[in-house]
Amino acid sequence: MKELTVDLGQRAYPIHVGEGALALLGEELKRLKATRVLLVTNSTVGPLYERAALQSICKAQPDLPVAVVTLPDGECFKDLHHIEKILSAAVDAGLDRKSYIVALGGGVIGDMAGFAASMWMRGIDFIQVPTTLLAQVDSSVGGKTGVNLPAGKNLIGAFHQPRSVIADTTVLKTLPQREISAGVAEIIKYGMLGDAEFFAYLEENMAALCALDADVVATVVARCCEMKKEIVREDERESGVRAKLNLGHTFGHAIEKLTGYSTWLHGEAVAAGCVMAAMLSEELGYLSEEDVARVKALFEAAGLPTCISGLSMDAAMKAMASDKKSVAGVTRFVLMKKIGTSFVQEAPRDKIESVMIRSGWY
Ligand SMILES: NC(=O)c1ccc[n+]([C@@H]2O[C@H](COP(=O)([O-])OP(=O)(O)OC[C@H]3O[C@@H](n4cnc5c(N)ncnc54)[C@H](O)[C@@H]3O)[C@@H](O)[C@H]2O)c1
Repeated sequence: MKELTVDLGQRAYPIHVGEGALALLGEELKRLKATRVLLVTNSTVGPLYERAALQSICKAQPDLPVAVVTLPDGECFKDLHHIEKILSAAVDAGLDRKSYIVALGGGVIGDMAGFAASMWMRGIDFIQVPTTLLAQVDSSVGGKTGVNLPAGKNLIGAFHQPRSVIADTTVLKTLPQREISAGVAEIIKYGMLGDAEFFAYLEENMAALCALDADVVATVVARCCEMKKEIVREDERESGVRAKLNLGHTFGHAIEKLTGYSTWLHGEAVAAGCVMAAMLSEELGYLSEEDVARVKALFEAAGLPTCISGLSMDAAMKAMASDKKSVAGVTRFVLMKKIGTSFVQEAPRDKIESVMIRSGWY
């Protein structure tokens, strides 16, 4: 078991990573002096892991009142209506200001449970128990919470840091292979944006990672959490360096938007977006052709898409200009000087178009 700390002064919190970490949940709630608990999960994860979560709580504090709310499974339910469901469950469970919400699930449940916690009685504490690879390496750490609006993804939300993150790597065994690959996309992104050695490690160990080799998974999840916690410590509210975590996301969000958030998983769009960001870095004279080939090969080794078909370049340009990360309609990209060294910059339209044509957009 590895324990890292997200160092945010008085709001510092631990990340527990390893096999069997879920058993720590009860002790964490005891340490944090929770008065009541509302466990938020979904109809897929609940039947798999709710029991183990409840057993851990009961073992540590048999008398602690615990209620469970189970949401339907899917990004399409990440909306205000389902936040209201969580808040109604909080009313029924009698949560007070010292109560805890526990998010047991992937990024969708983590974002929603965290957002509900940020609102209940103007903000109570919560614990993240991420159960997807993507949530373990990315969404559970850093305090971004929120839901979608019909007008766009994650348009409303709050920065609300968890008090603890419990990433049990054994739960990944029930994750569909496509979801594992989607998580691997965010993992490769970390190597590209900030750690060339880690990128090389992934090149050597990709097959083992995709097969969920226990040692490789533990190493990788811990390394990504380490990188994310450092970035969050430096720039909690994304006014600077945290923007690097959006590597591949500008193109990726355009892919997701144009395909109605239903055909591509987020991680798949990020994979194609990262390859495009590498190509753009090459077009601008930073990255070598060999490095672009390495990036593409690594995503392909993880079974991820690296090009596009049937999507309109003009529509993507509009989507990118209206992306919530754009400021006054100007799109900025995370680019690489070399693998492991990234920065944020605008790019000329002709270079963006050239990359899009190379990637298969029409
Ligand atoms: N807050 C952040 O910083 C941040 C960062 C990245 C992504 N996100 C958000 O995260 C969401 C995507 O998260 P995700 O990829 O985890 O998707 P998800 O939460 O939809 O989970 C993917 C699927 O896997 C299932 N699942 C989860 N754990 C499982 C397990 N152990 N075994 C079997 N099935 C399991 C889920 O029920 C779901 O069907 C998006 O809404 C995105 O906006 C947030």
